[in-house]
Amino acid sequence: MNIAKNRILEKGFLDIEIDPRLDLFAEIERLKKEKNAVILAHYYQEPDIQDVADFIGDSLGLAKQAQDTDADIIVFAGVHFMAETAKILNPAKKVLLPDLKAGCSLADSAPAPLFKAFKEKHPDHLVISYINCTAEIKALSDIICTSGNAEKIIESVPKDQPILFAPDKNLGAYLNKKSGRNMLLWNGACMVHEIFSLEKMTKLKIRHPQAKILAHPECEEAILAIADYIGSTTQLLKYSSSDSATQYIVATETGILHQMQQNSPNKTFIPAPPTNSCACNDCPHMKLNTLEKLYLCMQYETPELTMNEELRIAAKRSMDRMMEISKAAGLIG
Ligand code: 13P
Ligand code: SF4
Repeated sequence: MNIAKNRILEKGFLDIEIDPRLDLFAEIERLKKEKNAVILAHYYQEPDIQDVADFIGDSLGLAKQAQDTDADIIVFAGVHFMAETAKILNPAKKVLLPDLKAGCSLADSAPAPLFKAFKEKHPDHLVISYINCTAEIKALSDIICTSGNAEKIIESVPKDQPILFAPDKNLGAYLNKKSGRNMLLWNGACMVHEIFSLEKMTKLKIRHPQAKILAHPECEEAILAIADYIGSTTQLLKYSSSDSATQYIVATETGILHQMQQNSPNKTFIPAPPTNSCACNDCPHMKLNTLEKLYLCMQYETPELTMNEELRIAAKRSMDRMMEISKAAGLIG
């Protein structure tokens, strides 16, 4: 069985046929109870996965949940760096990821050996890295940040301390503008947030003049310049629920629209158009996870995210610093 399982897992997930009559929602609920498992899902997951999750959140909220859970198994419906984060913070738990190949173009844009060499050229710089990076990059960083706490993290650093920010150049440029700093930026970007078309969005805004533009700070400067509100996925969701407008053009991955629509059934949410011929913007990595893969990984408790303990301890330092600053700033409980 193990040889067969390994062969199946070469794909990154268990490619086992599922009886189509099976009620996967009920099966997943049963497995959660039987195995004392918790499902943590990012907002970019497909709606079915969001609906079976115990907690849906942005990277900061998910890290906090992963740290605090008393479940025996954390099923991470997100991408690889998020499951790594859960393991870094809570090593005693078994961390499962429905598809081990669910990566991230932003994390891939900072290979550890190149980043290490870059860092060594700037020994006087403090390294702040966005959580969308590998455990190796976290281990080379002084503090981690997310889109939900980045401003507070930067504020916590003395003004005369030079900072190197990685891997997202768009988020870094946005933070430089907001904070008045001149952080040195690594040249990385997210393939999903870089693809929004300013021209198409401007035309869309002309057709829907009442619509407010919501944008994630991983978007390029020109898109952020026309946004009415910029924030992490949780912040965008909260804003769309509490704000008085009734129409929104949403410049981030389309998965978030599911929660926006559920929270505000009478409002209209329009996905911001990308430069390609597609009408919406899906993250191909996030969308590798499916309800079927989620069920199989819970049933067979594989693929499991494992990590070398030395690397985990090295990566935990910068994660702990982030959690401490976020707590002191009242961003997490
Ligand atoms: P947040 O949900 O933390 O805003 O992150 C967005 C993202 O790109 C995750 O991959
Ligand atoms: Fe990575 Fe971008 Fe996908 Fe988020 S949306 S997982 S940053 S590629």
